[in-house]
Amino acid sequence: MSIRKACVVGHPISHSRSPLIHGYWLKTYGLEGSYGREDIAPVDFKTFIATRFRETYVGANVTLPHKEEIFKLVDQTLPRAQKLKAANTIWFENGKLIADNTDSFGFLANLDQLASGWDRNLKKAVVLGAGGASASIIAALMERGTNEIVLVNRSEDKARAMAERFPDAPINVQFFEDMNTALDQADVLVNTTSLGMVGQPDLEIDLQALPTSALVTDIVYVPLETTLLKNARIRGNKIVDGLGMLLHQARPGFERWFGKAPEVTDELRRLIEDDIVKAQKK
Ligand code: ATR
Repeated sequence: MSIRKACVVGHPISHSRSPLIHGYWLKTYGLEGSYGREDIAPVDFKTFIATRFRETYVGANVTLPHKEEIFKLVDQTLPRAQKLKAANTIWFENGKLIADNTDSFGFLANLDQLASGWDRNLKKAVVLGAGGASASIIAALMERGTNEIVLVNRSEDKARAMAERFPDAPINVQFFEDMNTALDQADVLVNTTSLGMVGQPDLEIDLQALPTSALVTDIVYVPLETTLLKNARIRGNKIVDGLGMLLHQARPGFERWFGKAPEVTDELRRLIEDDIVKAQKK
């Protein structure tokens, strides 16, 4: 059999750390296979999937700007990807090309690994932001039976639109000005905005109303410890950084393409952490 090949397809793509993650797993498990990058502009995406992708690859990660466009080009999109209006992983099954979204899985697996028991008796979760990443976090929190999700966003229309996408979810929309009410009695606080990322403004919120028993996590992972996480740690909250979500969301694809369920180890984390530090020095 020829070597199994997978890739990440996006535009631009040079910043993607997926090749480092999948390359590490291929090497660690001694598997014959490869994982590369494909920089494909939107105008060429349809042809790429229909021709070179189908001829060359067993599957791929799909990233910006193709995460929704891919729906039109596969044979089947799994319901959770449809719900999130984005897919990030594709593979062949009995000759059919399938698209799924593994972001909610990545978010949950990261917390399960680093804050085991975090979802026991989960009453109230506060989600900051109503962009693409917010939807996958809301879906994940729903999956774990959260009683109440407080969605805090700068613009009201985007927050309401997000809440409408989840008619079965107990979502209560609030604003940054009402942070004390939002954080009161919260069990979990998640930042899904890009604030706090290198090159973006910091996320400076007053955490005084947040119980110190609450878990605080961020989807931003450059820097690893954002200002939000640092402030939460200093006042005694348990924190989990966003790097693990990136690592865990890669697991289902790797298993589909290469037939081995990979693990997120300390060694893999260190490898990516070193790469982040290296990139910041450039
Ligand atoms: P997407 O994830 O879909 O690409 P985005 O435009 O990157 O979306 O925005 C993600 C989230 O970050 C949004 O909730 C956005 O708030 P708005 O809905 O009000 O635009 C939030 N965000 C981005 N910059 C922000 C800022 N300076 N202050 C507050 N929220 C901000």
